[in-house]
Amino acid sequence: MAKNINVGVIGGGLMGREVASAFGRWFVINDSKVNPSLYAVADLNKKALQWFDSVPTCKLLTDNYQDILNSSEIDVVYVAVPHNMHEQIYIDVLNSGKDLLAEKPFGIDLGSAERIVEAIKSSGKFVRCSSEFPFFPGAQRVYQVAKSGGIGRILEVRAGFHHGSDLDPDKAANWKRQSKTCGEIGVMGDLGMHVCHVPFRLGFEPRSVYAQLQKGYPERPGGACDTWDNAMLHAWIDIDGAEPVPMRLEMKRMAPGETDTWFIEVLGTDGGARFSTKEPRTLWQFSRGKEQEWRRVDLGFDTPFKTITGGIFEPGFPDVLMQMWAAFFAERDGDLNECFGCVTPHEALLSHRLFAAAIQSQQLNQVIEIN
Ligand SMILES: NC(=O)c1ccc[n+]([C@@H]2O[C@H](COP(=O)([O-])OP(=O)(O)OC[C@H]3O[C@@H](n4cnc5c(N)ncnc54)[C@H](O)[C@@H]3O)[C@@H](O)[C@H]2O)c1
Repeated sequence: MAKNINVGVIGGGLMGREVASAFGRWFVINDSKVNPSLYAVADLNKKALQWFDSVPTCKLLTDNYQDILNSSEIDVVYVAVPHNMHEQIYIDVLNSGKDLLAEKPFGIDLGSAERIVEAIKSSGKFVRCSSEFPFFPGAQRVYQVAKSGGIGRILEVRAGFHHGSDLDPDKAANWKRQSKTCGEIGVMGDLGMHVCHVPFRLGFEPRSVYAQLQKGYPERPGGACDTWDNAMLHAWIDIDGAEPVPMRLEMKRMAPGETDTWFIEVLGTDGGARFSTKEPRTLWQFSRGKEQEWRRVDLGFDTPFKTITGGIFEPGFPDVLMQMWAAFFAERDGDLNECFGCVTPHEALLSHRLFAAAIQSQQLNQVIEIN
């Protein structure tokens, strides 16, 4: 019998609605040991709340998130609110004694992330941070190739996330484009955790960074915009005590031709692999033989948690979001086994150390060592 889990969502915007969709078709996961339901939603915006009227499992809609924290029916809370509210709400959730799946970037800045991590340690609650793209089958294959030790000496790592909608000067300003609500780290807070998740899980932790940060349009309909829009982070990493390896992490809101492209590439002397969501069913694998060869592998629906979906079909964002939640619940129950897990609080903190160093690098135009 699958265990029922009631989830409360704080912040019923773009991501809150995606969670409703994932739980609404949870039956696609084969032999799931959990049965999550969206039980409650808190949002300050009436219209955002109204949308959840159509979700039959939802018993509580409120404009006060304390109602979710006070409900004894709720086991897990998912928080998806603007970054300036992360710290207060995450710590309130922990104090209420509930487990937490928290949205990235896990606090508005490094200090905030440090305080959240301290609160997690003293609460003893199970907490993970959201990042879905590594759950694409192609991303998992790159991770396995890089981890296998079978590609010789790793020469280069490149990962990124490219958006292009900010190229349009008529796109309205919103909280993600203002430092006071998004954070001074701007696009790094918006897209960076997605980019760092797989490299960090492989142990590729930057020991220094040189950053090139760019801003977009200072004014948009609806207000001023002051965040960094594009970030190129050039880092050195150490792998197994060999020569330092360059790792380039790219986060862009102004990438010509890109809608929502997440990618990762790890190249070694004997082999390598590359995956991009632009080709969601394609894994590129490099091998060095007598001739240099890139092999294109046509992947199917080989997700970490098996589903009813035919193996020949291709996955998309709603599928990997559900996979991430399956990993969250499995790890919460100590049942993750060999599966890939969600971002840990420590990894979220590492990402903030990197982004804080990147801001410093930009200011000084220097390479910054990361402690
Ligand atoms: N994992 C992903 O792929 C992904 C994608 C987009 C955004 N995000 C993250 O999700 C979070 C939210 O982003 P979004 O795009 O859903 O934003 P959004 O603006 O669409 O939604 C945020 C919602 O939070 C509500 N809110 C604000 N203050 C509140 C409060 N005190 N109590 C209750 N509700 C409150 C707003 O009314 C709004 O409906 C951010 O941390 C963002 O970085 C993650």
